Order: sequence, then structure tokens, then C-alpha cells
Amino acid sequence: MPNWVIQRESGGLADHNLETLLTIGNGHISVRGTAIEQTQGELAASFMHNIWDDMPVQRTELANLPRWWGIDIWANGHRLGIHGATPPATWSLDLRTGTLTRRLTWQVDQGTTVEIEDERFCCLDNPQGAVVRLNLRVTRGQARIRLRAGVDAHVDNTALKHWSVNQQSTDDNLACLEATTLSTRLDVGIATVFDVPGATITTCQADGQPTLLASAIVGESGSITATKYIGLSSTNECDNPLEDAGKIAVSLAATGWDGLVASNQAEWQRVWDVSDIEIDGDDEAQLAVRYYIFQLMIAAPRIADASIGAKTLSGFGYRHHVFWDTEIFMLPLFTCTRPELATRMLDYRWRRLAGARRKAVAGGARGARFPWESAGVGDEVCPVWVEKPADPANLIRIWTGDLEMHLNADLAHAIMQYWYVTGDDEFMRTQGAEIILDTATYFATAAVLEADGFYHFRDVIGPDEYHEHADDNAFTNAMAVWHLKLASSMLAWLRQGFPADAETLCRRLGIDDATEQLWVTVADKMVRPIVRDGVIEQQQGFFELTDVDLGLARDQTRTRSMQAIYGIGPTAKTQNIKQPDVLMLAFMRPELFDDKTLRANYDYYDPRTDHEYGSSLGPSISSIMAAWVGDADAAYAHFARAIRADLHDARGNANDGIHGASAGGVWQAVVFGFAGLRIGPDGWSTQPHLPAQWTRLRFHIIWRGELCEIVITR
Ligand code: BGC
Repeated sequence: MPNWVIQRESGGLADHNLETLLTIGNGHISVRGTAIEQTQGELAASFMHNIWDDMPVQRTELANLPRWWGIDIWANGHRLGIHGATPPATWSLDLRTGTLTRRLTWQVDQGTTVEIEDERFCCLDNPQGAVVRLNLRVTRGQARIRLRAGVDAHVDNTALKHWSVNQQSTDDNLACLEATTLSTRLDVGIATVFDVPGATITTCQADGQPTLLASAIVGESGSITATKYIGLSSTNECDNPLEDAGKIAVSLAATGWDGLVASNQAEWQRVWDVSDIEIDGDDEAQLAVRYYIFQLMIAAPRIADASIGAKTLSGFGYRHHVFWDTEIFMLPLFTCTRPELATRMLDYRWRRLAGARRKAVAGGARGARFPWESAGVGDEVCPVWVEKPADPANLIRIWTGDLEMHLNADLAHAIMQYWYVTGDDEFMRTQGAEIILDTATYFATAAVLEADGFYHFRDVIGPDEYHEHADDNAFTNAMAVWHLKLASSMLAWLRQGFPADAETLCRRLGIDDATEQLWVTVADKMVRPIVRDGVIEQQQGFFELTDVDLGLARDQTRTRSMQAIYGIGPTAKTQNIKQPDVLMLAFMRPELFDDKTLRANYDYYDPRTDHEYGSSLGPSISSIMAAWVGDADAAYAHFARAIRADLHDARGNANDGIHGASAGGVWQAVVFGFAGLRIGPDGWSTQPHLPAQWTRLRFHIIWRGELCEIVITR
């Protein structure tokens, strides 16, 4: 089906980028696109939201689940895969249903050939269920087939073990395992029913591997179909995950493959009815946009108290930690098309205010400062020292957890956007206002009044992480000023509509007259940046740094980041930037930039940005900026870079997982850039800048509960 199916060929060897690309899931569990029978060197993984376990350096990560999707295959005593090369295969990921299919032909021995087709999906309508089906047809000769399915606890996270086995059992055609994470003591139960008509099923128990075996003799032109129904549960959902998982697996088997296919498809249809984007005139863009919407949809938590990590649920990169990537880059898709999922992700932050308060106090301030990297508990989990990728004997100090402080304002921004779009006063009254006010108090009490009579934020990191230890980063300061003013107006809103809530909240957060006054004073007296010919200086002293070597920076044959070329220290002495910073401010606070100012800043900063190998968060924002200033070619070039990040592995690191922020940025580049959608307290409007080849663009947003169709044609 054109523009709905990602099709790829694999050779015989493990391909980690492909494994990432073919990740499927259902908003609770995910599984990378590895072979069901295992390939040598593969980076197989499956994750469930909120199953965190401790690890060194990065502190915590989601534990790779016991292997539940595997079916090992023997024909005439020969095993497929694992020990030798797997035959080339064709993979199709159908975005309409989240189903991954693989087809291959296996020359078993001189006289025997079999064709294999396997399919798998995680049930979107039942987040604790998944199903795998194998269809094996003997096209030449006769084959003695043996299939081995079950659950296997002998898995790791890139060589780190997370599981101890609690109990396991096999009974008829049901295999069950319960395992516990080693540090956090979370129990996960996984159960599987193996249904293979015409075959004899036997069971086998090895430690941590309750197994079901099916054997059959298949003659020429004959076939065998094996279906594996899987239930997954944890102590986050119930008291007895083993029993729960067993019940789920049995009930999936009772429904059967066809029934599960139908209900999964119907649920996906409901997603696409609202969240699809139609682009006429550009097949690459059409398929890519759907692909990235799909990847975000399968990562957004459906039942867990969780949010989406920087690399979604598709790899080990950033160890599933949640950054500003979620609220600023991924959330708008959900805010505008699946508000109930946006609420869940904002709720994730609200439930972690205690951690944010601890971080604020530890830094000598009051209020709440959300951690740069967040996981299960809500305390800072940003690593402090990591090994240098090119030289692991040496360590690099990671400063972002200490110094990158703009997240508070990013959250306030996301909450306001959510509120404008949904009109969800109840959320604002009970949760949103608390986050906005408490995080504003952090800014007010962390800013330092200096002898010049102005407040400053010194030694920070703005969005552009090539410049650590920056003084008065323009983005951070301007966002804090906006946030502090917002706190005053939100408190006024709360007092007017819900006076009792306002009083209780102020008492609970220690907001007295002096705090309120401090919000106003700091906003008023925050030092303002230098502006030269309309260009806002990114941070103090930025204009004095060595200018960018544009020949090198814009050289399209460059294969490394500017920071990798120069080194961390030397790059910071130049005006090379990793990602939009002043232009990020223009994106988030467009009211501060008239047309002339936007143009001046775009002309200055865009060529100085490492679009190719800086941050993957950059290209979509650069695309929007280019669209807003009317530079259609540049807008499309930046957009193309964003859509190729994972689909073409343009940055060379798709093996770590999907670039979630880039995926969300792709949606925004289409909606906020090309369609020019603007959202405010009084409504929405569009100001289209369609790429030349796009003849029609169609999408939906849900505005205050009402489905609005937006169609832009040439
Ligand atoms: C970017 C950050 C981003 C982080 C996680 C970094 O390389 O500079 O803006 O939050 O990656 O994606």
C-alpha cells in the first residue's frame, strides 16, 4: 500500500539501525525489529513503561524484558539463524496496524526449501497483549519441523543484567514466568500460549526459560502455522502479575488471531482518523510523516505513570530518560490530536514535583526545578561523568544536569499550549497551576541580583549545548521572564475562579506577598541581552567569540559534528552552535520577534548552526523558522534532514533508538511551519507556506473538544 508501509530488505547479518526502525509497540510495551529466531550479534530488546532498574553511570534505565516474542525454528535438525547467517529477508511495517511482517526463503539442505512468513503486533486495544504468528511452508522436499517458544529471562541491557527469576511454570500449552528487577524489586509476569494446529506440543523447563515445543512433519507444499499469544503484566498494574499475565494470554488465545487482528486494526483506525496527516505531491514526506507519528503513538504511555524518553521505547540511547524533548517537541502532536495522552504525560511531571523540589533546594533556591533528565522517581538522573565515545579511557563531565535550567519554562510553555488547545480548566486548577507557580518560584529565587541592579543567571547552558557555562543565555532569561509574568497572571486566574484552591495552593507552596513581589521584580529587572542590528546576542560575550568557518560548517561532505572536529573546549570559543537557541526563543515566544527581527536573527544564526551533526532537535525548528521568514527552499531542506534522521539513518546513530524529538519536530514542521498553525488563548489560525511540490495538505486538530479539519491546497 503506497505511503503506509515501510519496506526494507535485510542481509544475513544483524542490522541495528533496521532493528530500531522496525520497532513496534502499543504505548505500553515495545519490541525492536529483530528476528523471532535470533540473529547473531543482534541488539534485541523489548521494553515496558515504568519498569525502571538501577544501573551505573546513567543511574537508571528500563529493563529489557524477558524475551517473549521468540520462536526458534529447526527443520530437519538444522537451526535457522543464530549460529550462521540468516537468509536475506523482506520486512514490511504496516503503519495502519502496527504490524511487522518478514518473509524469507530458507534453503534447509540439498533437498529441502521452506518459505517463512512471520507477523507480529502489540495489541493497541489491549496494552498488555501481543501476538506473533509464524507461517512456514515447505516448497521443496519434506521437513521435520521443530518450533520452540516460551519466555526467556536470560536477557540483558547491553551486558547489564536486570532480572532474577521468581517463579516459572509450563502447563499444557501455557508457559509462565515471573521475574523481579534486581534493584527496584518490580515484578513482571509474562505468559504465553502457543497454538500450533496439527503439531504435538510438549513442555520443557530450564532455569528462567519455561518453554513450549511443537513438532510436526510437513510434506512438500504443506505448511504449518504457529501462533504465540503473549500476556504481560507487572506490579505497577496488579498484585499478582504472573496470574494476570496468564489470564491475558489465555483470553487472547480465546479471541484468536483473526479477532485480534480486527480489534487492533479498529483501534489503529481510530488513531489515524484524527492524527493522520495527508500530503499530496510528495511521497517521501507522506510516508515519513506517518512513520514518525506512528513511532510517537506507540511510545506514548497508555496505562503507566510514565512519559516518553528521548529515544522513545525503541533502543538503549539515553536510557529512556525524559528530557525537554517530550514537552517541547513530542507533546504538541498529542495536545492537538490525542489530548488524553498529553494529559497523562503532563500528569507524569506533576507527580514528580517532589523530586523537582528536592533539586531546587539542593541548588540553594526555593520552589521546584525539574531535573534535566527524569525517570521513575523524578530526581535528577543525568549522568555526571561518561566515557568519551572515541576514547573510553577518558571521561567527559556532563554539565547539563547542573546547568541546563530552562526546562521549568519549557514545561510552563507546554502546559499553556495544552490549556489553550483543550480548555481543560480542571487540569489547570488541580495540576497545571501548581507546576507553573512552583517552578516560577525557583526562577525567582535562583536569579542573582548583582551590583548593576539587574538579576542574572550565570553559568548556565541554553538549548545550544556547544556553549556550557554561559552567562545570561538569552533564551533562558527571556523564557524565565515570560514564566514569572505568567505565574502572576495564573495566580490571578485561580483566585478569580477558584479562590479556595488559590489560597490552599499558596499556603502549601509557601507563596506569600513577598514571593509574588519577587516574581514581578525579577521579571522586571532581569538583565536584557545586547541586540546588534536586530540580532539578539545568544549569551554574554557571544559576539566576541571567533566567528564560524562557514566553508567548513556548510560543507555538505562533512561527516562529523563541529564539536567532534574542534573538541569541546575549542568549539565553545567559536560561534558554532549545536541547535537553534535564539531561534528557539523565536519559535516559542514569537511575540518577541517582529518580521524584521526574526529575519535578522535567522540570517545570523541559521548559517552558524550545526544542522547536520549538531542536535537532532534542530532541523525541524530550523525548518519552521525558514518557513516563517519565507525561505521555502531552506524550510524544505531542513525538513528533509529531519525526516531522514531515522529513516535514512542520516546522523549515523539510529541504532540507539528513534530520535523522538525529531519525530515530534517533523509533525510540528508540517503543522506549525508549512501550514503555519498558530495557537493562542483566543483561537487558532493558519498562515500556509506549502513546499512547492505539495499540492494539498490535510490534518486535524481537536480544538476544545471539537474535531477541526484543516485542508490547505495550492
Ligand atoms: C540535545 C538536547 C536534548 C538531548 C536529548 C542533546 O544532544 O542537545 O537538546 O534534550 O540531546 O535528546
